[in-house]
Amino acid sequence: MSLLSTRINLDAISHNVRRLKELVGPDVRLMCVVKADAYGHGVEKVAPVMLKAGADVLGCATVDEAVALRKLGIDAELVAWMWEPDQDLSDALSSNIVIGVPSLAHAQVLVDIEVPVKVVIKVETGMHRNGVDPAQWDEVFTVLRDAEHIEVTGLMSHLACADEPDNPHTDIQAAEFQQAVYRARELGLECPINHLANSPATLTRKDLHFDQVRVGLACYGLEPVAGLDHGLEPAMTWAANIINVKPIKKGESSCYGLTWTAPADGYLAVVPVGYADGLPRSIQGSLEVTISGKSYPHVGRVSMDQIVVDLGENPFGVSPDDEVIIFGEGGQSATQLADAAGTINYEIVCRPTGRTKRTYEGGIDL
Ligand SMILES: Cc1ncc(COP(=O)(O)O)c(C=O)c1O
Repeated sequence: MSLLSTRINLDAISHNVRRLKELVGPDVRLMCVVKADAYGHGVEKVAPVMLKAGADVLGCATVDEAVALRKLGIDAELVAWMWEPDQDLSDALSSNIVIGVPSLAHAQVLVDIEVPVKVVIKVETGMHRNGVDPAQWDEVFTVLRDAEHIEVTGLMSHLACADEPDNPHTDIQAAEFQQAVYRARELGLECPINHLANSPATLTRKDLHFDQVRVGLACYGLEPVAGLDHGLEPAMTWAANIINVKPIKKGESSCYGLTWTAPADGYLAVVPVGYADGLPRSIQGSLEVTISGKSYPHVGRVSMDQIVVDLGENPFGVSPDDEVIIFGEGGQSATQLADAAGTINYEIVCRPTGRTKRTYEGGIDL
């Protein structure tokens, strides 16, 4: 038994991917985004579940992530969109990875290498982060078209504000993206597979699905837009086992800086999770945890390895070894924890680290 663990429910991932497949329908391909170790869920276990549940393609950020997946024996279509122009691409080129091209310099590298490769051109449409600027569309489209060893699968772009459904910027980006596809086709690129939608756009803007959607967060069961419910099941639970329960007297203070003082005689539970394990130190003062279905406040500062929880008079007899849910099944959601920490659920599921051990449930039909 581990003192601190994330439990990943593979059946929840399978359910979510099936749900997303239904939602996009048969004419749109589903890319499940598995970058950053599948958003902290463990790509090695999660990727096969996603493919079995109907994912058509897996998306990585870095080319190295995609190569690692191939080495794990995943033979599905893989796309990766982050690499440096002076990076050694030999493993990626021999691993049949669709490589994203976000600039003329990147395009030129692939042209000069003269090794057969499939690419997706990442175009700038208004996020201003990483993509070919409109002023260079023609040149990039043309050099890639003229390189016989390069197959352009299509265009992609990323939305800046899709998690705000009323933000007009999404329509501006969509129109710009449509323009890029027209222009590429005018210049002779077929571009059969174009993709723009992330989780929020996939869930809220069917009109922006194009030929493929790129879904990360929703595969892991979290809603990207507050207040929506698409029947997704959160896959991650972060839990710890209490290592000590000790009394504290009214007026005594606890943890670094003695920032919290007991208002009455009571008990504290010591929980082995700290900022070295990914719990944001900034959450002190607003973290609630759950023990046997009851909510308790964390008090004092978050230390590197531990926190304390105020049990009050401990009316329910909490004792060492009892399980504390930091977020997930049986406790508050990752989204609630994110709200308390002033961040987003994307960050929360990527946080458990340090001494956290990952365990898996479900997925037995694989
Ligand atoms: C280029 C790109 N596409 C798709 C995604 C998936 O986004 P989401 O997790 O909102 O589905 C990401 C993640 O940030 C991304 O960087």
